[in-house]
Amino acid sequence: MRDEFDEPQMPAPAGEAGVETAALVAAAEAPASVPAVPDSIRLLNRDFLTDAANLPDASIDLIVADPPYGLGKDYGNDSDMRSGEDFLAWTYAWLDLAIPKLKASGSLYVFCTWQYAPEIFVYLKSKMTMINEIVWDRRVPSMGGTTRRFTSVHDNIGFFAVSKDYYFDLDPVRIPYDAVTKKARSRKLFEGSKWLELGYNPKDVWSVSRLHRQHAERVDHPTQKPLEIVERMVLASCPPGGRVLDPFMGSGTTAVACARHRREFVGYEINESYCAIAHERVSLAASAAPARASAAVSAAVAAGA
Ligand SMILES: C[S@@+](CC[C@H](N)C(=O)[O-])C[C@H]1O[C@@H](n2cnc3c(N)ncnc32)[C@H](O)[C@@H]1O
Repeated sequence: MRDEFDEPQMPAPAGEAGVETAALVAAAEAPASVPAVPDSIRLLNRDFLTDAANLPDASIDLIVADPPYGLGKDYGNDSDMRSGEDFLAWTYAWLDLAIPKLKASGSLYVFCTWQYAPEIFVYLKSKMTMINEIVWDRRVPSMGGTTRRFTSVHDNIGFFAVSKDYYFDLDPVRIPYDAVTKKARSRKLFEGSKWLELGYNPKDVWSVSRLHRQHAERVDHPTQKPLEIVERMVLASCPPGGRVLDPFMGSGTTAVACARHRREFVGYEINESYCAIAHERVSLAASAAPARASAAVSAAVAAGA
């Protein structure tokens, strides 16, 4: 189901649905030659709310949660058919199950929409320390849209920590300056500054294109998140070798980020087809060369910083 708050979708090019179906079937019937998912990545075809008790408390460095938003999306189940108080009660229930899984240095990112962000953030502020509200600008193109309000083109992401001593490493997610800007800022005063060599803080508005149907990264999931966004969370908020939990993993974007950056992962998804997609994506990521921490680090290394 779509509603007036949804971004406009481009029509799928002819034949694309067939390609996606083929990918799904391939994932489900993966031959022995498809690389295995590493032991450090656990993709569970289970309901987080009924299975969370099996996960030890204080065992997780980072939770990346991208739950149903309460807007009636079709995930092949009725998980997004709650709204209003019913949706909020369900949200508080899974948060109560997830938060105790975090270590004392742990943190949580939760994706949501402006319709429910105020209530969710107030609830989380009663349990955790709020670090940021990140605005994801989905770079939606200007089209017709609504005429009775301003068109919504962003998702809200709450970033919360268990305590003020939370793990956070800015360096792997710094954004490098281009040569011209860098030169313009190369006054004596700034010479040797870490921020000039390694790049700047990404700030709290993240302008990253949504994955429209033609996007190279896109698989058959209606609300797949861009890898770039989730990688930034993993690199900044989970130490190397640490463990990430995704209670609603969908097509496995968080699992892919963990496979690429050598973090352990445990994720839950109730739709079997999405689990198969996650399995295929992680297998491919695990068999590829390890990803570099970020372009910023490479640039700094190249510059001899
Ligand atoms: C917003 S999507 C996640 C998308 C994911 N971040 C990605 O990039 O593909 C939410 C997912 O949660 C799943 N889900 C809903 N209720 C669940 C539950 N109780 N336990 C586990 N998964 C659930 C849905 O089937 C859906 O795929």
